[in-house]
Amino acid sequence: MRNRRTALTAIAGAASLALTLTACGQSSEGGSKDDGGSTKGATIGISMPTKSSERWIADGKNVVADLESKGYKTKLVYGEDDPDQQVGQIENLITQGVKGLIIAAIDNKSMNNVLQQAAEAKIPVISYDRLILGTENVDYYASFDNEKVGELQGGYIVEKLGLKDGSKKGPFNIELFAGSNDDNNTRYFFGGAMKVLQPYIDKKQLVVKSGQTELTQVTTLRWDGAKAQNRMEEILTSAYKKDRVDAVLSPYDGISIGILSALKSDGYGSKDKPLPVVSGQDAEVASVKSILAGEQSMTVYKDTRELAKVASSMVDAALNKKKPETNDTKTYDNGKKVVPAYLLEPVSVDKANYKQVLIDGGYYKESDLK
Ligand code: GAL
Repeated sequence: MRNRRTALTAIAGAASLALTLTACGQSSEGGSKDDGGSTKGATIGISMPTKSSERWIADGKNVVADLESKGYKTKLVYGEDDPDQQVGQIENLITQGVKGLIIAAIDNKSMNNVLQQAAEAKIPVISYDRLILGTENVDYYASFDNEKVGELQGGYIVEKLGLKDGSKKGPFNIELFAGSNDDNNTRYFFGGAMKVLQPYIDKKQLVVKSGQTELTQVTTLRWDGAKAQNRMEEILTSAYKKDRVDAVLSPYDGISIGILSALKSDGYGSKDKPLPVVSGQDAEVASVKSILAGEQSMTVYKDTRELAKVASSMVDAALNKKKPETNDTKTYDNGKKVVPAYLLEPVSVDKANYKQVLIDGGYYKESDLK
């Protein structure tokens, strides 16, 4: 299974380029054709979770730009991390007559009723980045290889502590953080990371002094950095009176920044008390700056421009009665159906390769990171 997925994601870059080119072809065609059955001018509703994280602002912009380049109109809404508000916004979009929906859910299990309404109105639904659970009324899933994200985070920690290749080093102290328990990605990120870390915990080369190792003990509701900061402070006070923490598994940049604040308030970051290895995800500007300042250790970059292209190509194909390109039709079972997915490849980024990946790749300008 793993091998199959690795192989699939390895070609994802090339495939997504192909998809992009196809999409461009369709866009000029779709924008000009006038064949009666055309979706020209149709409005697509885009529902994003929150503006409090810069990645979702970028996602929203990128999806809008991509759909507009294909000749669609768009309505973009943000649910401000309130599941009820998001469901209400999607109901409004349906009432306003959108012809397709792209949704990054806040609570993946909250969409049942509203997606029933979408199905009755024959509106195709693309689950964006986060899989919508518990309903058959979701057509396609556009995301990244979420398990691989966790593997990159865990793998980086193992490598930086020098534990790889049978080394008997340690024991090192590590603390574990996971994302929101209502986001399906959380268990994939944590599962991928623990696949790498657990063998070292079993061999006692890694020790979790807080004793909090179960997913249910380490989640962070709504990915809230302030909540993570509080939890890190509590852990430092209760479990690290005498010892030092050497690594922190963090699933997302906003959480990493909270964790780093707690660590710095506790005196970490000096020569005598260096900061632990801290992972992250999303390559948000604050975290890339933190990496360059030698604080956060790494992040996992997921190119939201590519994700936007995949999602808008999916909705475009579905509306034109074409089969969207997918590269995983087995992994993402939402409890009602296996949702056909297109998974992009995440990339580990640290001080050593940020230039090549983020600057040369055109995601940021060097001046953004000053
Ligand atoms: C996840 C997403 C991550 C991160 C997180 C917090 O669903 O996959 O990349 O953005 O939400 O926003």
